[in-house]
Amino acid sequence: MDQTINTYNRIAHQYAESRWNAVSRFRIRAYKKFIKYVKGTEILDAGCGPGKDAAILISKGFNVIGVDASKGLLKEAKSRVPEGTFILGDLRNLRLKRKFDGIWCCASLLHLRKADVGEVINSFKKMLNADGILFIALKLGEGESIKTYNYGNKRFFAYYKKAEAEKLVSGEFKIIETYVSAKDKHGDRWVEIFARIK
Ligand SMILES: C[S@@+](CC[C@H](N)C(=O)[O-])C[C@H]1O[C@@H](n2cnc3c(N)ncnc32)[C@H](O)[C@@H]1O
Repeated sequence: MDQTINTYNRIAHQYAESRWNAVSRFRIRAYKKFIKYVKGTEILDAGCGPGKDAAILISKGFNVIGVDASKGLLKEAKSRVPEGTFILGDLRNLRLKRKFDGIWCCASLLHLRKADVGEVINSFKKMLNADGILFIALKLGEGESIKTYNYGNKRFFAYYKKAEAEKLVSGEFKIIETYVSAKDKHGDRWVEIFARIK
């Protein structure tokens, strides 16, 4: 994981720029559904990156706390979204002394080893109020691998089949709906799950 976070720290500005300038139609669909399902205003953006999703949710009237393990991306988020609250933290051992109405966890669990994700989902349940909503987006596929980008920057990715992703969530949550997206501009397909606490 250190390797992945080191990469995000190195590419933080360029990554933030790319996220800022393009919001995919899949992401827009996800915002709309999340907003429809969440009852309440308190949101945790788990693995918030440069804060683009937090910015959109704040513009829709939510209070958002973003957590991320990359200091570089948090710096970007703080300067780009001054009205948000962004804190350094590892999703595998988050200790927050408050609860949320919704957890938005987009494209961040995919950087954890599959063996660690069940515990993180359990911890999400503990951080949600009654009726709380969880959104997760994972890359469609199989297995785990390290991908090398420009200039030798490496990131770890775990890929999931639809049923495998649903199984991760369904122990603690009731699944509302699952989507498998068409290919995005990078050729990736996404498994997106909306679930409500059981
Ligand atoms: C692909 S980016 C997605 C960022 C943001 N959610 C978005 O969709 O724009 C993955 C994010 O997960 C964060 N991340 C990876 N592993 C993490 C961990 N163990 N704890 C917290 N954040 C983590 C990275 O730093 C990065 O910001």
